[in-house]
This record gives sequence, structure tokens and C-alpha cells, in this order.
Amino acid sequence: MILKNFVVFEGIDGAGTSTQINILKEKKEAERFFFTAEPTDSPTGKFLRTVLKGNVELDPRTSAYLFAADRAEHLWGKSGSNCGIEKKCSDGKIVISDRYFFSSLTYQSVTCGEELPRLLNSAFPLPQILFFFKISPEISLKRVDVRGEREIYEKIDFLQATEERYEKLMDEYESKNTGMKIVRLDASKSKEEVSAQIWQELSKLL
Ligand code: TYD
Repeated sequence: MILKNFVVFEGIDGAGTSTQINILKEKKEAERFFFTAEPTDSPTGKFLRTVLKGNVELDPRTSAYLFAADRAEHLWGKSGSNCGIEKKCSDGKIVISDRYFFSSLTYQSVTCGEELPRLLNSAFPLPQILFFFKISPEISLKRVDVRGEREIYEKIDFLQATEERYEKLMDEYESKNTGMKIVRLDASKSKEEVSAQIWQELSKLL
């Protein structure tokens, strides 16, 4: 199922999804959008942030469950200020999320195999548009290092494996003809070039 008015940005760490969201926030049309991200700011999402910092070590399968639980709140719950997005979409807001279940099908498939993340995420709707930020892990890690401290997944081998999974996943969804529009962006380009390409697609929704 496609959730109308729902737009997702995906890519490995340092691909520039947050930068592009910040550019959109500055636009005069910004009040038509609701900006959000996963992990959310719900209690589950906040706990996941501490896990990502390396403060709590969990079995990788537990993390996969938590990311999916946080996603359920994001779509349907009220436990965080950015939760309940399904309702927002049906009320006519264009909801733009920095990450969604494609992150679980890539990152968590590296840590605990493909089967569990797919199972845990099978009930969530697809977005109307998925922007995939394609970038080499070498470039993306340089950007992460400029930003500051590394999180647990921000290592070259890990991001290489994740990027490969993203590519495969995009091919898979393209071949399935689900009705979700996939826009592949060359995220190594300047932020102005990337944002122009995003706007070309997003402005069609307004
Ligand atoms: P990120 O989106 O890069 O946010 P920030 O810039 O605030 O650090 O960080 C989220 C991290 O969580 C990123 O490394 C990907 C990871 N993640 C998963 O592993 N699985 C998921 O399902 C989600 C949503 C994120």
C-alpha cells in the first residue's frame, strides 16, 4: 500500500539527507510540509539514539525490533512530537521523513541478516516518493568526520555493505512496480544541484 503525501529520504550516513531537509525548511512553501526523521523523538526513538552512540550494547535483533517499534509510533502513535504521520498525510500535509524502513532493510540486514528486518517491516505502507541519495562511503565518511563524533554504524566496511544493500533494494523495488516513485540522486554533487533535483519532483506535489 502507498501512503499518499508521504516522502522519504534514504542513504548511508553522510549522504546529505539532513542537509537537504534543512534547505527545504527554508523555502517559502515550507508550511505545506511536515518534516520528520527516524529514529523519532518518542521514548523508543530517544533510547535508539543512545544505542547509536554506543552507550548501550544490544543484540542486533533487539535493535531491529526497536527500530520497527519506533516506526509504528512514527506512523500511528502519539508518544513523540513527530509521531502520527499517517494522520498528517491524510489531512493533506506533505510529510518528509529523513529515513524510513528502507534503513532497517539495509543497516539491520548487515547486522542480523535479511529475514528479520523484512518480517518486522512488512506491514508498513510505502511512501509516495522515495529519494535515494547515492554516494560512495569514502566521501560520506569524510562528511561524517567533519560533523563530529562517529556513531556505531559509521565505519567504512559497514557503510560499504549498507550502500550495496541500498542499491539492490532500489533495483528490487523498481522491478516490483509498486507505484512508489524512486528518485535516484547523485549525492556527491553540490548541495545546490541535489536540492534543485529534489525540488523538481517535490513541487509537483504542491
Ligand atoms: P542519522 O539518520 O544519520 O541521523 P543523525 O544525523 O542525527 O545521526 O542516524 C541514524 C542512524 O540510525 C544511522 O546510522 C542509520 C541508523 N538506522 C538504522 O540502522 N536503522 C533504522 O531503521 C533507522 C531508521 C536508522
